[in-house]
Amino acid sequence: LEQARRPSVIWLSFQECTGCTEALTRSYSPTIEDLIFDFISLDYHHTLQAASGDAAEHAREEAMRANWGQYLVIVDGSLPGPDANPGYSTIAGISNWTMLEETVEGAAAVIAIGSCAAFGGLPHARPNPTGAVAVMDLVHDKPVINVPGCPPLPMVMTGVLAQYLTFGQIPELDAYLRPRAFFGQSIHDRCYRRPFYDKGLFAATFDDEGARAGWCLYRLGCKGPSTYNACATMRWNGGTSWPVEAGAPCLGCSESRFWDAGDFYKAL
Ligand code: SF4
Ligand code: SF4
Ligand code: F3S
Repeated sequence: LEQARRPSVIWLSFQECTGCTEALTRSYSPTIEDLIFDFISLDYHHTLQAASGDAAEHAREEAMRANWGQYLVIVDGSLPGPDANPGYSTIAGISNWTMLEETVEGAAAVIAIGSCAAFGGLPHARPNPTGAVAVMDLVHDKPVINVPGCPPLPMVMTGVLAQYLTFGQIPELDAYLRPRAFFGQSIHDRCYRRPFYDKGLFAATFDDEGARAGWCLYRLGCKGPSTYNACATMRWNGGTSWPVEAGAPCLGCSESRFWDAGDFYKAL
């Protein structure tokens, strides 16, 4: 088993901020080290790979050739749409769309990491100057798994990857192609402040007595009731805390209209 070849993963970063990769490095079970040294062969990743320039592109092409039909493509970031100027975002002189099309051709499946890749995200926000689109708008002949969040929970990213690599199957997905295991319930369904919501006890400002007593943040704009993600149970920073526990309303970062829905910190 020690000699077994680790599954090849090609990670493409397009119109993104590297926050998703930053978050991935905070995963603690498995850690990023466990992941890349024991479970997968991360053959291309702008931030984590040692190679650069032509050597990096060669690594991507070689990984595709050696693992044709079996490798996994992970994407973070959205792409300028097919009708947009391809020069808006390029890597090694290759437009994002061409690189995605070329790389996905021999892939077994595609995982769109973060709300940018899953739904267009920040680059897609009005007025969407690059005509940004999501991975699922372009990839129609391979299974796509969306793992949204801005960024996604580290343990959700590694959990989805581990599940796919262990069972070799696409997990059960919701209508937005999100794995139900992590996105099946709303933040509100699992929030520890929910008893205050049910009793009608709401903080009116960020530092009033209600806020200090842990009352519900709905009137401060919490989007937990319409946001599907696992923050309330898996939490952030190694299980330390999460936005609502830190006194910040959920902004709905794993939902499709995250940025354009706006109204941050305003009750709807
Ligand atoms: Fe950055 Fe958020 Fe987009 Fe990830 S989803 S690349 S954290 S803006
Ligand atoms: Fe729901 Fe937000 Fe209130 Fe928690 S703080 S109970 S998620 S509205
Ligand atoms: Fe995002 Fe809301 Fe979790 S803003 S990080 S889904 S609590």
